[in-house]
Amino acid sequence: MNVLDVWPLFGLSLSSPRLQMRIVRDEDIPALLEAVYAGVHDAAVMPFAVPWTDAAPDELRRNFAQHQWRQRLNVKPNNWTLNFAVILNGVPIGVQDMSAVDFSVRQTVSSGSWLTRSHQGAGLGTEMRAAMLIFAFDHLGADVAESGAATWNAASLGVSRRLGYTDNGISRAAPRPGQAIEEQRLRLPRDDFRRPSWKLRVEGLDQARRDLLSP
Ligand SMILES: CC(C)(COP(=O)(O)OP(=O)(O)OC[C@H]1O[C@@H](n2cnc3c(N)ncnc32)[C@H](O)[C@@H]1OP(=O)(O)O)[C@@H](O)C(=O)NCCC(=O)NCCS
Repeated sequence: MNVLDVWPLFGLSLSSPRLQMRIVRDEDIPALLEAVYAGVHDAAVMPFAVPWTDAAPDELRRNFAQHQWRQRLNVKPNNWTLNFAVILNGVPIGVQDMSAVDFSVRQTVSSGSWLTRSHQGAGLGTEMRAAMLIFAFDHLGADVAESGAATWNAASLGVSRRLGYTDNGISRAAPRPGQAIEEQRLRLPRDDFRRPSWKLRVEGLDQARRDLLSP
């Protein structure tokens, strides 16, 4: 046996015109941490529900690795978070995640993402979310995708709206202690997806399917 026989998700990968997305392996973690240390957002604001980028570098390193391992620990059919390393020209530059709870019944995925700042604003956030959506709708059979972003987060909301998500209410969150923010919830039924013109290449799904979906 090899590691793919043990953990078939490591063989799952999505290829879009500019990006390769593969499930984060331990050997991707150092480059992803470098992408985080190089900066993901203005320190004055917090785009994430969990304020993981506020940690000091040494704590962030440990938390980041433990977060990746924790997601693996919790994978079982119909209940998972997949963390895709987003790779441009061979270099990991960010993460696109996709989660499901009771997928066989709810047929719903939710997602989150980040890119290192030097690669933001070039359409890559839209490309990686579109890749995730094609995978969810066309390959896993999802009916609905959900997302959310702080109401000030024009880039994240821009990605969602560009791909056809519509507003689905406001909720209040407090990612930083003592500071409430408003979060815009978004929802995308499959038929409303504004699809890109390119085709997605998916590899490794046949093997990964048995850890993602009910037999
Ligand atoms: C959110 C994020 C992944 C988006 O990726 P990106 O590559 O920067 O976004 P894109 O270049 O694909 O832009 C998507 C849309 O938003 C718009 N947009 C991007 N940055 C913007 C900004 N700062 N202000 C206003 N609009 C912006 C773009 O014009 C585009 O809209 P269009 O297609 O209608 O022209 C990325 O900006 C990021 O990592 N931000 C920091 C972390 C974060 O906020 N993560 C999300 C938490 S909810």
